[in-house]
Amino acid sequence: MDSPFKADAVKGKVALITGGGSGIGLEMSTQFGKHGASIAIMGRRKQVLDSAVSELRSLGIQAVGFEGDVRKQEDAKRVVESTFQHFGRLDILVNAAAGNFLVSAEDLSPNGFRTVMDIDAVGTFTMCHEALKYLKKGGPGRGSSGGGTILNISVTLHYTAAWYQVHVSAAKAAVDATMRNLALEWGTDYDIRVNGIAPGPIGDTPGMSKLAPAEINSKARDYMPLYKLGDKWDIAMAALYLTSDAGKFINGTVIVVDGGLWLSRPRH
Ligand code: HXC
Repeated sequence: MDSPFKADAVKGKVALITGGGSGIGLEMSTQFGKHGASIAIMGRRKQVLDSAVSELRSLGIQAVGFEGDVRKQEDAKRVVESTFQHFGRLDILVNAAAGNFLVSAEDLSPNGFRTVMDIDAVGTFTMCHEALKYLKKGGPGRGSSGGGTILNISVTLHYTAAWYQVHVSAAKAAVDATMRNLALEWGTDYDIRVNGIAPGPIGDTPGMSKLAPAEINSKARDYMPLYKLGDKWDIAMAALYLTSDAGKFINGTVIVVDGGLWLSRPRH
């Protein structure tokens, strides 16, 4: 689908996207690139990164991949610094790296809970913390331009409750709380905007293939009338809106992009 945004919506900006090598992260990388940004992607798997970088470059996008695990502070620091060294600035940090699996709370070990908290919640904070120096107003490479922006990929699971997702719900609740606090502190002090997107079920993503059994598409409509699969494109357009000048007055909020699903109630 064609983009409703102008091709220069984020021209000259540099975006670092964790989990940018696949799924929603790769689509955001692609759309940021198509709208003029240079792209650094961070991920744990070299092959996935290499293939994503080739795909982006084949579209004429300036792209580079850095291996790293958001759970390791030294990786976060190295990747943020490498992005700055490669492109000379950093404007947009997207925290899209996430861990997930379906398991009942009874069967989830405390270490399994901790692992997802470490990736989603602590990892997001660590990336933000390491990127602050470059994103803040007047920081290296920024000249007289204002601050950069941070975007987290969240969920809607913790707005209510979700079966077999206690670890993810808890982790993303922490991500949203962190987002609001950083929006307050860093918005005030450094002109940095911090926001989130909460996607619904999005087709053709690792999250969906791992979490949604095939029959959900047929059964879901009975008890969730608003159930529809979204496209990765839908999330990337929301990301462009929030990170470009279109979103310049938006700070400290989460945009739910789920077709209304989380409000869905069975018909009676
Ligand atoms: C129960 C599990 C488990 C599973 C891991 N653990 N997988 N417990 N069921 N399927 C437990 C382990 O037993 C262990 O605890 C602890 O978690 C750490 O496991 P490791 O395998 O050592 O961890 P690691 O290799 O670091 O892998 C962590 C990972 C991650 C979370 C499994 O690799 C991962 O999920 N990658 C997939 C990324 C992904 O799918 N991203 C898309 C997310 S989509 P013990 O106690 O045994 O030591 C998304 C959308 C959500 O976030 C919303 C959808 C609606």
